Amino acid sequence: MNNPWLEIPISDYESHMSLPTVDQAVMTATELSRVLSQFTPESVAVIGCAGGNGFDAIPASTKRVVGVDINHSYIARAAERYEQRIPGLEFHVADVQSDHLPFEPVELIYASLVLEYVSLPESLDNLARVCLPGGRLVTLLQQPSTTMTALTPSPYNTIQSLNKIMRLVPSSECAGYAASAGFTLESEKSLTIKSGKSFLVQVYYRQ
Ligand SMILES: C[S@@+](CC[C@H](N)C(=O)[O-])C[C@H]1O[C@@H](n2cnc3c(N)ncnc32)[C@H](O)[C@@H]1O
Repeated sequence: MNNPWLEIPISDYESHMSLPTVDQAVMTATELSRVLSQFTPESVAVIGCAGGNGFDAIPASTKRVVGVDINHSYIARAAERYEQRIPGLEFHVADVQSDHLPFEPVELIYASLVLEYVSLPESLDNLARVCLPGGRLVTLLQQPSTTMTALTPSPYNTIQSLNKIMRLVPSSECAGYAASAGFTLESEKSLTIKSGKSFLVQVYYRQ
């Protein structure tokens, strides 16, 4: 089976994320900006970066920025938007669960709304290899809801193909695999957006 993310046009994905009923793009961009100002890493990797959501708020103190996504057309769009604007920017088309990630280790890894679509043990092992000792992994996970479907209905039908692979990840499961990969849970907090959907941000420290 082809990964459904390879079949979703970036315009469908970004339009879906910006629908008032979904409205998740601002949340994930805001969290990226927040962790960059909290930890002031010199280097960051954004895993599942799509079209570069949040890249416009990356501070100058972050000297190296790595964007990774499985979909080459998302990476092409992100490069078109940001290559001239952000010094020290590099992009890689890679599948985080099966590819050796082809970049030098970074101080902070941000994986927002991507672990729902991958195999956790392989992905976290791969991420541990590209996180510097003393660095951090920040994950943002969608939480289950008793009243809402995991994928919000929308006019962009291609998005519904994600039902085949999407799985909401229990936070303890993520923490367990992260610990096996060498990440210690440092803090966590939940966020609830206007639609009523909740998310969990976990910060891990790399031993
Ligand atoms: C729900 S979007 C989240 C985008 C962005 N992180 C945000 O929060 O705004 C998931 C992104 O992860 C990418 N993705 C999904 N599976 C992946 C994988 N196995 N390896 C790398 N990227 C993946 C998708 O192509 C998509 O861009």
